[in-house]
Amino acid sequence: MPEVMILPGLIDVHVHLRDPGQTEKEDFTTGTMAALAGGFTTVCDMPNNAEPIFSAELLANKRQLAAQKTVADIGFHYGSLGDNIDTFEEAAKHSIGLKLYLNNTTGGYTLDVEHLKEIYAAWPKEQVVLLHTEEDTIDVAIASLDGLKRPVHVCHMPSKEVLQKIIAAKAKGIPVTCGVTPHHLFLNETDRETLGVYGQMKPPLKTKEDQAFLWAHLDDIDIFESDHAPHTRQQKEEGAFGVPNLETTLPLLLKARQEGKITLEQIIDKCYTTPAKLFNLPTDESTHVEVTMQPYTIKNEDLLTRCGWSPFDGWEVPGKVTKVVLRGETVFENGQVLAAPGSGNVLG
Ligand code: DOR
Ligand code: ZN
Repeated sequence: MPEVMILPGLIDVHVHLRDPGQTEKEDFTTGTMAALAGGFTTVCDMPNNAEPIFSAELLANKRQLAAQKTVADIGFHYGSLGDNIDTFEEAAKHSIGLKLYLNNTTGGYTLDVEHLKEIYAAWPKEQVVLLHTEEDTIDVAIASLDGLKRPVHVCHMPSKEVLQKIIAAKAKGIPVTCGVTPHHLFLNETDRETLGVYGQMKPPLKTKEDQAFLWAHLDDIDIFESDHAPHTRQQKEEGAFGVPNLETTLPLLLKARQEGKITLEQIIDKCYTTPAKLFNLPTDESTHVEVTMQPYTIKNEDLLTRCGWSPFDGWEVPGKVTKVVLRGETVFENGQVLAAPGSGNVLG
């Protein structure tokens, strides 16, 4: 009998489930089905929808849709271009954090950094502000944090340069945390050549040296975040940024564990304990995930994400989520989602 490991219900604070507006890529049901299949019972969805979540009404509408469609627990990050500060008080009551883009990516909602200070001051200081920064914006991002007494999380560490700057900021006592995605840990720019458009995302894949630096400094990286960013194949061919990851994050991390690059304790810390703590997310003793340690090959056709492809298609991984129990109910078993749409909790 293969070994069965019991893990807590994992938490992914960085996903793009595209609902409403771009449900040809994903929706709340398919996205949270993919989450369960990957061992995640809580996800936090980003605001860069076709119509970005910049008003309390749009947030309320999104929450209502999710309440009818989600099969896992879900919370939402709010968005801003600096011109909706009067909506923050109401929106924050129903948000997990506030996401700001300092670089161009899907949707093109790049914030003018002039607004950063005002936004930090207006968003409730017990809630996290999440930043999308890259090599060209990390300095201005870190400068904006000086003297700040509020949590800020810098998403998806892509490179040695960015991570080194975060490590230096932490050493100065700046209350900043950071995350890393599976694609930046498991792929590099050489894979970009073989994957073509399917290896395209923001921040882009970097060098082997950058990748090695991320692995060597896992202790400086607070959390794993999938940045699950589904697009149809046609949209990818047309240049869309992003890759799905909810179903591949845990199996890939188990492969790294098998190779001695990470421990199970580190996986649980960065996919559960620390995200729950940083983002004030509820956890439940009667929620758990069972992983059967039996090797399998990741295949596009087996994925539950609506986009139906993965940059990790063909990768051999050592273990698979075979059962998920959410608050005492079996919601996923042997590849089948058993939960009804609307059965997950909407957080915040
Ligand atoms: O590759 C990415 N895709 N990076 C982002 O920052 C956004 C995401 C998306 O929404 O497609
Ligand atoms: Zn993202």
